[in-house]
Amino acid sequence: MSRPSARLDEERHAEALSGHASAFASAFPGDAPPRLFFAPGRVNLMGAHLDYNGGPVMPTAIDRGTFVAARPRADRRVVLASRREAGRQTFDLDDLPGEPTGSWADYPLGVLRSALAHRDAAAERAGTRAAGEPCGVDVLFGGNLAVGAGLSSSASICVATATALDALWDLAEDPMRTVRTALEAEREFVGVHCGIMDPFAVGLARPETLLWLDCRDESWEHIPLDFSRLALAVADTGVRRELAAGEFNRRVAECGEAYERLRARAPGATCLRDVPPAVLEDARVELPPAVAKRAEHVLREVERTFAARDALLAGDPAGFGRAMTEAHASLRDNFEVSCAELDRLVADATSVPGVLGSRLTGAGFGGCTVILLERGAEGELRAALEEGFRAAFGRAPEVALYHGDLGPREVAPA
Ligand code: GLA
Repeated sequence: MSRPSARLDEERHAEALSGHASAFASAFPGDAPPRLFFAPGRVNLMGAHLDYNGGPVMPTAIDRGTFVAARPRADRRVVLASRREAGRQTFDLDDLPGEPTGSWADYPLGVLRSALAHRDAAAERAGTRAAGEPCGVDVLFGGNLAVGAGLSSSASICVATATALDALWDLAEDPMRTVRTALEAEREFVGVHCGIMDPFAVGLARPETLLWLDCRDESWEHIPLDFSRLALAVADTGVRRELAAGEFNRRVAECGEAYERLRARAPGATCLRDVPPAVLEDARVELPPAVAKRAEHVLREVERTFAARDALLAGDPAGFGRAMTEAHASLRDNFEVSCAELDRLVADATSVPGVLGSRLTGAGFGGCTVILLERGAEGELRAALEEGFRAAFGRAPEVALYHGDLGPREVAPA
């Protein structure tokens, strides 16, 4: 595994998107070529399950994500097709469904609704009518990001759609508006009780950095990761759990319960993140055991994430890596969102010299681990992961190296 170069990545992207443009031409015959857009996925290195508890998170984007090919139509129809799904979905811009349809198209549909509502509101504030009416559009979705693997494919499709509409409808939105449109689509239309991390990580992506996002006040900054010395790998267990969404919602509810039970003893607290660990210790026996364990994870993960940030800023990536591995133990034992395949990958990665830390990324219950390592250790890491996983589960995990991404953008065809 050699270090990927930014130039090669862009060439790879342009090639992949040219293939996507050809697929569009077959799906939507016509003379004018489509415009092409990309939005990345993300991995989270620190701050697991903290976003919906008001804590800090440290994700970075990866250069796999969603491809969008889109072309304006002369009428007011929106036709959505996906290379991953059969059939197409047609909507009328003047009569978009007010309720989710239960299909993959709900994500782009939520974005369409949110983008239109925002356009109208902005025009009203400016005291003008929105210039012209937005045109209908033919859209083909695709991409190279594993779906349901904890790499934020849903935020990626939402941000990619918002980026494409922004360009086609001349909305001239700033990246923050794109983030908010994506978030509204998922939360208010699709109805997922997700935290804010994913659309921020995807929408504000910058190469060779981690995003530091404080989910209590939504302040953020980019923190450089020294890719001349370090590498970032992602290993996919291949495990996809049908029940993961229900388990995720249960963790959200348990954390909510912990906050409700502890807040009276923590004056001024606005979210679980604000509760001092000593308050949890005093109240522990009064809490249901599972709720106490979830709160233990959250409060310690907040401390670990601040310490990890300090370590990185002080030039101590090994300290950052140790915090990642400690976070995994807490996700396994206190938050109970790991599984045998994830634990195997973390154990095998952290036994390799030069690996600084590893943990599950995303919600858990399957999906991927993320690994921080010193450059030069990539080959040994891959061998250890493949050998250990094959011995335990009879197949090899997919292992890939990343170094961030330029963020959501229009891409010129190759
Ligand atoms: C999922 C959610 C995120 C976040 C992570 C856990 O990926 O979409 O908002 O809560 O789980 O850190």
